[in-house]
Order: sequence, then C-alpha cells, then structure tokens
Amino acid sequence: MLRMNALSKVYRTHLIETHALRGFEIHVREGEFVTVTGPLGSGKTTFLNIAGLLEDFTEGDYFLDGVNVKGLSDRDRTRLRNEKLGYIFQGFNLIPDLNLFDNVDVPLRYRGLPADERKRRIEEALAQVGLASRAKHYPAELSGGQQQRVAIARALAGEPKVLMADEPTGNLDTQMARSVMELLEEINARGTTILMVTHDPELAVRAQRNVHIIDGQVSDLVRSSPTLVQTAIAGIASQQI
Ligand SMILES: Nc1ncnc2c1ncn2[C@@H]1O[C@H](COP(=O)(O)OP(=O)(O)O)[C@@H](O)[C@H]1O
Ligand SMILES: [Mg+2]
Repeated sequence: MLRMNALSKVYRTHLIETHALRGFEIHVREGEFVTVTGPLGSGKTTFLNIAGLLEDFTEGDYFLDGVNVKGLSDRDRTRLRNEKLGYIFQGFNLIPDLNLFDNVDVPLRYRGLPADERKRRIEEALAQVGLASRAKHYPAELSGGQQQRVAIARALAGEPKVLMADEPTGNLDTQMARSVMELLEEINARGTTILMVTHDPELAVRAQRNVHIIDGQVSDLVRSSPTLVQTAIAGIASQQI
C-alpha cells in the first residue's frame, strides 16, 4: 500500500540544515495497523506528513498504492490525497461554530460531492463512531474522546484507504485513549490501513506492527520484533552491570 525507499528529508534555513529523515525505508501492506514511535524530534511527524502527501521529500522514492508520488503535479497529488487518505490530529481540529454533521461535511463539500451522497456518508460515519444521535450538537458539548471520534468520522466520511493519525490520543486521558484505540482497531478490522504515531507504549504494542524511529531512520531491531528488542536491551543492560 505504501513503500518508501532511501527517502530523505532535509529542512534548510539560511543558518542550518536539519536531516529530519535519512535513508528511510518502510513497506506497509494493505490492511496493516502500524504504530510509529520514537523520541521527540526523531522524525515521526515528518514521516507521517510525507506519507500523507502533506509535505514534499528531498530524495528517494515513495509509492502510494502503486503510484509514484515523485512525479505528481499538485493537482494529481491533491486528487490522490482526497481519494485515498484520511487524517486525524492530536488537537481534533474541529470547527467550533459548526455542529457535528457540518464538521464532518467540511471535506466532503470541499470535494464537491452531491448533497444526498454527503448526507449518506456523514450519517454512516457518525454512526460508525457511535455519535449518530449527536449530529446537531456542537464540539464544545462533547468530551475530548467524543471530539476525537468526530474527527475520526470526518476522516472516515472520505472513505480513505489509509488513515494517518499523529498522536490521536495525545490530548486524552487513559480511558478515552483506550476507547479511541478500540475504535481505530474496529476501523482497521473493516479493511482500512492505519498509520499511527503515538507516545503511548501500551497503544504502540497493541498494533500488529510497531516501527521505531531514531534520528530519522527506522530502527532495525525494533522493526523486527518489539519483544526481541526488549530482551536484547535487557541483555545489554545486564552485561553492563
Ligand atoms: N518545518 C520545519 N523546519 C525546520 N525543521 C523542522 C521542521 N519540521 C520539523 N523539523 C525538524 O525535523 C526534525 C524532526 O521533526 P519531527 O518530524 O516533527 O519529529 P517528531 O514528530 O518525531 O517529534 C526535528 O529536528 C525538527 O526540529
Ligand atoms: Mg511529532
């Protein structure tokens, strides 16, 4: 579904160059749920933004659902994003003046879908996240966990093949975080590929696969198996003692 080869991203200002990603390699298959972890500044958001076609990369190759992203015009890139991708952010990014129905409608209107098709998708998406009865409510009337569910509904209404989530539970307490994770697992079980950046080790290991990024590169050890790495780290630690 998604493949990056020898990908790099360099941020240049007049004073410094930051190599946010270097020699980055990843292959995510259709239907996978992959969590992405790593220290602050390791390149997680950069990776997700590039994967989500929100940002350009400097070198290397990126194929999304068989499409070579490198040669795309802005218009084709936008079309690919609209057709295949959905996004969830830490801060929910809902519009306070719009009720839930209209919030979920925003990207659908932007895409120019007809009203009856939009209505069908909005009702279906709100039902999927358990908020069908709240369509006329406003974001401020909801808990953080419910607001994130609305954001998930907004992403689902676009019927994406891949859902990109950057710290979607970062603003939530443990209970709400678990319930959002359960919802994402249900969505994944219905076939949507999910890429999720998270700080939460409990959530990270729940996914089928955890990719750990260090200094802009996938850490090979952790990619193969989180348990193996924990054992290896414990082994190294005991040798040092
Ligand atoms: N727009 C930008 N301009 C310059 N440097 C950036 C920009 N965005 C990110 N960086 C740098 O790239 C590195 C990776 O950042 P980021 O992907 O946000 O890390 P993470 O999400 O893992 O915390 C950091 O050193 C960060 O300072
Ligand atoms: Mg980040």
